[in-house]
Amino acid sequence: MIGELVEPMTTPRASAPPAPVAPARTAGIFGVGAALPDAVVTNDDLAAVLDTSDEWIVKRTGIRERRRLPEGASLAALAAEACRAALADAHRDAEDVDRIVVATTTADRIVPGLGPEVAAALGLRCPAYDVNAACAGFLYALDEAAAAVESGRARCVLVCGADALSRITDHGDRSTAVLLADGAGAVVVAGGELDLGCRPFVLGSDPGRADLLGTDARGLLRMQGREVYRHAVDRMAEAAAEALRRANLGVEDVDALVAHQANARIVEATAVALGLPRERVALNVDRVANTSAASVPLALADAERDGLLRPGATVLLAAFGAGFVWGAGIVSWKERRDVCA
Ligand code: ACO
Repeated sequence: MIGELVEPMTTPRASAPPAPVAPARTAGIFGVGAALPDAVVTNDDLAAVLDTSDEWIVKRTGIRERRRLPEGASLAALAAEACRAALADAHRDAEDVDRIVVATTTADRIVPGLGPEVAAALGLRCPAYDVNAACAGFLYALDEAAAAVESGRARCVLVCGADALSRITDHGDRSTAVLLADGAGAVVVAGGELDLGCRPFVLGSDPGRADLLGTDARGLLRMQGREVYRHAVDRMAEAAAEALRRANLGVEDVDALVAHQANARIVEATAVALGLPRERVALNVDRVANTSAASVPLALADAERDGLLRPGATVLLAAFGAGFVWGAGIVSWKERRDVCA
């Protein structure tokens, strides 16, 4: 009986035509955007209310000024501004976007997160959510977006990093108040037949060290600066070296290191550990300070504006943040913009 239900095969399997092979889709970055709050807080402004000085802050951190979101202002609006700028840069419309990932630890509300708020601000109802990996959040979000594009689960993803660290800063603690700031940056990730695109990132975490850098019972950021400095340099340099190894690239192939801007000395020490010359290192911490998840996309936007990033450039990304969490990865910069699918 069972045999009667089975239809006889008319064509032997071996001679069936091969299934069409989908063209290789490599995820890449096609546009970048940045948005900063209007209010500038200089080192002298801080020295007027804290036991610190412009000289100390510049010498130890490289920071000269930072931006702050006014109390009650919307971080989602700032993030949406960065996303609009990234879409315009990629010559894309909001309707092209089928996923939004926002890296943040300081969303306006716990729920909804910034992702859905940004989607609504752009007039979209696509999948939209937040990633919490502190200052490394943008790298985690970018890695995930690239995987979604390459697997075919998404075609065009907005990856945004947005933070208002002023919301979790103890403004009376000079050891953190001079470092932390607010901002938003975004990139458009889509697929194409790219040579390099976004290579899989090297990511890591170690919550056992959270007492060195993490939030206290009041939700304010506490940091053992000197210890954090050491771990930040070591973990970023290790992860970056491993990312290069996996991509079969050498330091000489890297056109630019764009690392989390916590402190100019940390970025420079990471470059030295990797053997990268100073002229290939992006630095904008003097203007924006530590904007956490927004730091890397803001540095990408500034590096392009300053002429460090040109289409086809090979970029080494690295970040380290509270928790601890960290990561590094290799991306090509706006490689073959015309094939954005
Ligand atoms: N102004 C003046 N003096 C200060 C200030 C300040 N703003 N802050 C600290 N000091 C003092 C300290 O009290 C200390 O004084 P003491 O010697 O009398 O005790 C002295 O300066 C030296 O302090 P250190 O912390 O040892 O100074 P250091 O040279 O290490 O620089 C810094 C401090 C800038 C914080 C550095 O350690 C650093 O950048 N750490 C890492 C920051 C970072 O990467 N954070 C991670 C990201 S944050 C996130 O993920 C959200």
